[in-house]
Order: sequence, then structure tokens, then C-alpha cells
Amino acid sequence: MSEHETASFPDGFLWGAATAAYQVEGAAREDGRSPSIWDTFSRVPGKVRDGDTGDIAVDHYHRWRDDVRLMAELDLNAYRFSVSWPRVQPTGRGPAARRGLDFYSALVDELLAHGIRPMLTLYHWDLPQELETAGGWPERETARRFADYAHLVARALGDRVELWTTLNEPWCSAFLGYGAGVHAPGRTDQVAALRAAHHLNLAHGLGAEALRAALPASARLSVALNPSAVRARSRSAEDLDAQRRVDALSTRIFTGPMLHGAYPDDLIADTAGLTDWSFVRDGDPAVIKHPLDALGVNYYTPSVVSAATDNRPPRDDGHGGGEHNPWPGADDVAFHQPPGARTAMDWSVDPSGLYDLLMRFSREAPGLPLMVTENGAAFDDEPDPEGAVHDPDRIAYLHGHLNAVHRAIGDGADVRGYFLWSLMDNFEWSYGYSKRFGAVHVDYATQARTPKSSAYWYARLARTSQLLP
Ligand code: NOJ
Repeated sequence: MSEHETASFPDGFLWGAATAAYQVEGAAREDGRSPSIWDTFSRVPGKVRDGDTGDIAVDHYHRWRDDVRLMAELDLNAYRFSVSWPRVQPTGRGPAARRGLDFYSALVDELLAHGIRPMLTLYHWDLPQELETAGGWPERETARRFADYAHLVARALGDRVELWTTLNEPWCSAFLGYGAGVHAPGRTDQVAALRAAHHLNLAHGLGAEALRAALPASARLSVALNPSAVRARSRSAEDLDAQRRVDALSTRIFTGPMLHGAYPDDLIADTAGLTDWSFVRDGDPAVIKHPLDALGVNYYTPSVVSAATDNRPPRDDGHGGGEHNPWPGADDVAFHQPPGARTAMDWSVDPSGLYDLLMRFSREAPGLPLMVTENGAAFDDEPDPEGAVHDPDRIAYLHGHLNAVHRAIGDGADVRGYFLWSLMDNFEWSYGYSKRFGAVHVDYATQARTPKSSAYWYARLARTSQLLP
């Protein structure tokens, strides 16, 4: 079928939108919540644009009822959110904080009352600061703490939440947080980044075990990765090798142990000058390869790489740049900006990357359902004089990417749902509030929510499961 025909999605397809705790909740000091690494990092001068923080964000902690009503008005049948670890276990260890859990419990009830399926992510980057002070993700203990936290949340919400995601984009936590230093906690140590990646993998495995032990058999477990759709700039052996290395460091470092029970040999060889990987203990890969019920794919833009030349362009990690390399052992790889349309993040628009990833995983992990756990675009949307927000560029972006999803389904990929990033404008990490990813506009001065045209466009799709040409 072509892009000129109406595309029908399968029955039961999840049409959702996604958010994350630190990006939307605010209420940073309420009801016993302790600081996370993002509270600390966002206060370091120069780390977040305009000195923005998530202290207030879009005040979702107080406006959640209205926000759920809005989701229902937009006909969403699913909502992906994350739980703030420092809200439910403020020191990262010990018993749960009742008031923190109560918030999520009420949110889940409200979603279910509106026929919206909750998809809960346990870790979307807000590590309790106390755990970072004790060493953070480079230390094995943090993975054990995560399993304990997963168990607490599962016991409290497992009777009502069916869709569970352990980690969101562990690549960003490890390599932007500990390698490039552009995300919290802002460390710039490549070995620490590799250790963090392993302990995030281990946290995923131990967390999945803890979830299974506490959840009913109907629970569905997943992880949300941001695999790179990485292309070589030419077919030269050097450029293809750059592509292979970035694929190992961005994607196979997670899918290797999670799906196949081992780190790729080429990754170990590429990083041999930095570490002997002795932090991986016997038995860890088996724990990490916990059987999953779905694989979450977050996709925004492809990467184009080559072997570096003397005159290489600045490295673009897609999340704020920076002078430190988020790619350990790959100092000689250059990233290039492909021609064509870009979003306000300067990310190129190319839905074929999403198609390629969905096809890749459906071949690599036959029988494992896929979910697009994030996809979307930032544009500089502002209300017109009548107060309406028109965002044709976002509609075009979503349209193109949903066509790619539909094409992948037609070619055999078992894709069960799509979550637009994001429900509403929010705190975009090191970019602060300067980048608007929402289908719903937020006026940060008044917290007024205004659905953009893309929200109405998406609502129609969610209602009908028919993507018009
Ligand atoms: C991925 C992250 O999971 C999300 O938190 C972020 O806002 C979007 N990408 C856009 O950068």
C-alpha cells in the first residue's frame, strides 16, 4: 500500500502520549520528595539553558486530574508516564514514602476511570541524589537499589498497572550523564560511562526479576531503548567501521545482553584500551536477559557517521552537544547533519530510520512485540492572536513516522502501540523550556494548556485507527 491510501492500524493498537516525572511534575520539594540528580545538576550554572529547573515544570503534580481529562478529550487509550524514584523512596533505600506512592495510585485510578491504559516507566533519569553521592550508576549497588525500588512500586500499583517499563533510554543515562556530562550527574569519565551502562543493564535484569515476583502473571514487562538508526556516509571500509562502532556503543551494548545474553565481542575489543570489563561478573548476562513481553523503541532522528577527517564538524549527540565525547573509544568518528527538513532541535526528519529499526528488531527478536514508546518533534509553536496553536510541521512529522510504522507492520513487524512524545510541552533537559515537544501547548506563565492542531489531528487517528493520506 502507498502513502496515498488510508492506512488502517490493527485492532487494540495503543494510541498514547508520553511524559516523564521530572519533565512535567514540578512539586520538587513536596510530600517528602528528596532531590534527584536532575535537581542538583539543573542548579549548576551553565548546565541547563537559561538556568531552568524542573522545580515547577508544568505543575502536573497538582494538575493531573485536568491533564487526564485532557487525554480523554483527545481520545488517547494509553498514557506512558514515569515514577519519580525520589518521590517514592526518597533516599533510594528503605521503605516507601506513602504520600509519593499515593500520587501515582490516584493517577492510575483516574486513568483507568477514563479508559486510558497506564504504561509505567520506573526510571526516566531522576536518580535519588543520595545514590549518586554513594557512587551512582557506575557502582553495582545502584542496580540492587533499583530492584528494591521496582519491588516497592510493583507491590503498590501492580494490581492496576499492566504495562511496565524498567528503564528509559539507558544510553542517555550512561553516556550523556557520565561520559559527555551534558545530562545529570554531569560526569565526564568514559570508563564510568561504560560501567554505568553495565549497571543499568543489570538494574534492568534485577528490576525485571523483582517485578515478576511481585506482579500478577498478566503483567507485561518492557524496556524503552533509543537505538541509533546509524548510517555510514559512504561505503568505504573506514566509514562502515565507524557505523559498526556507533551501533555497538548505542544499541548493541543494551540489546546484546538484554536480548542475547552477551556483550558484543566487537564492543569489548573497541573499548579494550579503556577497560577490561571486569565489572561484568559471571552470571550478570543471564540476569540481564530476562524474558521481555515487549521492546520499546524511542526514535527521533537517524545518525550519519564517517571516519573522522581533520576538519570534522562538531560532534552532535542530539542532546546538547558538549566538548566531551559520549562515544568511548570512538574519538575518530565524525557525525554529520544530513540535508533536508529539521526540527527545532536541529534533528533531521527521516521516518525511514524508524522503519529500519522496527524491521531490524522484528528480525533480531522474532516473537517479541514492539512498541514505539516515543516519537515526536520540537517546533517553535506559539499561539496566534486568537489563541490557537497551529503546528503543521509536527503533523507532517507525525504523519511521516506513523506511515513508517504502518509500513513496518505491513512488512511483518509486530508493533502494538505508539506513544507520541510528548503529551504537552515540558522541561527538555539541558534545553530547559526552550524546546516544545508537546501536542498540547503550555503557557509557562499561567500553566494554561492549549491543544495544538496536531493534538486534534492525533485524536482523530486515536479514535479511528485510520491514518489518512
Ligand atoms: C527522549 C527522552 O526519553 C525524553 O525525556 C526527551 O524529552 C525526548 N527524547 C526528546 O529529547
